[in-house]
Parts: sequence; C-alpha cells; structure tokens
Amino acid sequence: MADHLNANGANIKVYNLECIDLSNPDIDQSAALIKKVCLDSGIFYVTNHGISDELFDEGFAQTKRFFAMPENEKMKILWNENHYRGYQPPVQKGYVEVYTTAAGVLKDGVVEDDPTNLWPSADVLPEWKESIQKYVHETLNVGRRVAKLIARALGLDDDFFDLPQMFGDDNATVCSLMHYTDQENHSSEEKLGRMGHYDVSLITLLATDDALGIQICRDKEAKPQSWEYVLPKKRAFIVFVGEVLERLSGDTFRPVLHRVVYFQERYSIGVFLLPSYDCLVENSLPPNSEENSSKYTAEKFKDFLDFRYVDVTAEIIQKQMEAA
Ligand SMILES: [Fe+2]
Repeated sequence: MADHLNANGANIKVYNLECIDLSNPDIDQSAALIKKVCLDSGIFYVTNHGISDELFDEGFAQTKRFFAMPENEKMKILWNENHYRGYQPPVQKGYVEVYTTAAGVLKDGVVEDDPTNLWPSADVLPEWKESIQKYVHETLNVGRRVAKLIARALGLDDDFFDLPQMFGDDNATVCSLMHYTDQENHSSEEKLGRMGHYDVSLITLLATDDALGIQICRDKEAKPQSWEYVLPKKRAFIVFVGEVLERLSGDTFRPVLHRVVYFQERYSIGVFLLPSYDCLVENSLPPNSEENSSKYTAEKFKDFLDFRYVDVTAEIIQKQMEAA
C-alpha cells in the first residue's frame, strides 16, 4: 500500500494506513480489520471517534500555549526521571521538546490528579491543567473503545481491558505534548526529530497537526531499512500498537518501528495507554489459540517499564555520542 508524493520538493514514499471507523455498528467487521492491520503493520487511523473538533483544536491551542511559555517557566517543571513527568527541553542535535503528564483517575466527572504530575503555574497558564485533563480523559475513552475491538480481535472477552489493572481506575496512562522545532537552523537535508523506536505502551493514540513528519519501517531486518511516511490526518488519531500489547497478544500483534523526520515546525499530542504498574504483562491469549507463541516471561508492568526506559535512555546517549 505504498504511494509516492511530492513534499517540500522531494519525492517521498507514503504508506496508506487502514482506517477504523468507530461509528461502524458492525463490531465484528471492525475487529477483523484491526486484527489484519495489527498482524501486518501495527498502525492505523481511527476516525468518527466522537471527540469534537472544538476539543481537538483546544488541545492543540493549549499545547502551543505551553511551549510558547518563557524558558524559565518551562524549566521550573523540568522532567523528573523518578516519575517520567514534566518538561524535557530539546537535547543536543534533537528537534523536539516534550511535556509529559499522567492522566489521573476520573471519578464522577472530577479528575483525581496523580501526585507525581508537574503542572505549569496556573498564574501563567490559567485553566490549562483542566483543559489538558479533559482532552486526555476523552482520548482515553476513545482508547478504551479501540481496546474492546482489540480484545475481540484476540478472542478475549470484550471487557478484558476494562479490568482495573488494565484501563480501569488503576491505569497508568500518560500524555505527552510534543513540539518539533529547529531553533538553531540546522542545514542537513533530513533531520531526525525522534530516532527509530517502539512505543512502551499498550496502544498510543496520536493526534497531529497537518505537517508531515512520521515515518514507519515495516521490516526492521531489511538492509538498508526502508522508511515510509505516514500522512497526517487532522482530527483523526493515528494508533500505534505498543510493546505491551505485543506481549499480551502472545507476540502476534506487532509494534511498529517509527521515527520522526523534521521538515517544519509541528505539534502533536500522544496519549499512551498504559496498564497499572502492578499489572502482570504476560501472554493473555486464550490457551487454545492457534496464534499462541509468546517467547517472553511474565513480569510486572513497572519492571518492564523501568527496564525499557533504561534501554531507551542508553540508546539515545549512544546515538548522541556517535553523532557528536
Ligand atoms: Fe513513538
């Protein structure tokens, strides 16, 4: 499903994603399509998700407000490596600044905030926290509906992901706001805003503006690797299969290797659906499933997460040293 497109004067290869329409009443049809794409590319669009244009636009307006704050305000809530929350400035030769916050728990219409979150001052950004919390929880609910389709695609009970330790009250979902920027006007033709990686999530729901940037590699073993662009789709979600779903699905649903190439300034908002820290990440396929072939042993999500962050951080440092 590759196509070619001219962008910024360059002829580029584009991968056409399948689209899951959440308004489709034929649940089995949607689940079958999800199964096909999760076995194949591990990435798809979700449309007709019920989130209003106003809330989408508000999410992006608030994201721009955050990154437009003076540097000293952003540095007051610098990323905390104990909890992975807060502001990460662009690192050397990097082109992205990020703000990460946990969803907290929504009860009776009110969010119980996660105490480890680092919010910008309400004096500087009034009502910002409430606005972002609303965006995150509405997106999390879209993720829960996608998860029901995934459960059916895997032959699990439809409410498998509603368990407290999955996407019930104990979930550890986080949201990252991302701003791709090149403040130093680097001159190289292709600049990597984010190196190739898999998401450490069950699924990720990414909203983007209409600027080009995301690339996927469908065969990581190929030499040289072939990278295809994913077209942005405004007010739709791009859904990525993450490494937690890979393990829960007995290694059948594949996470997609992806990266971001910098063409122009762009913003995106990622909601990373995560189970609780105590959730056991293990092959959850029915025992009689023909696709049951996991090679991983069960471990708590917290241990899996800590291990992956150490891994990812080491990889970033290594790449920076190579590039220096
Ligand atoms: Fe990612």
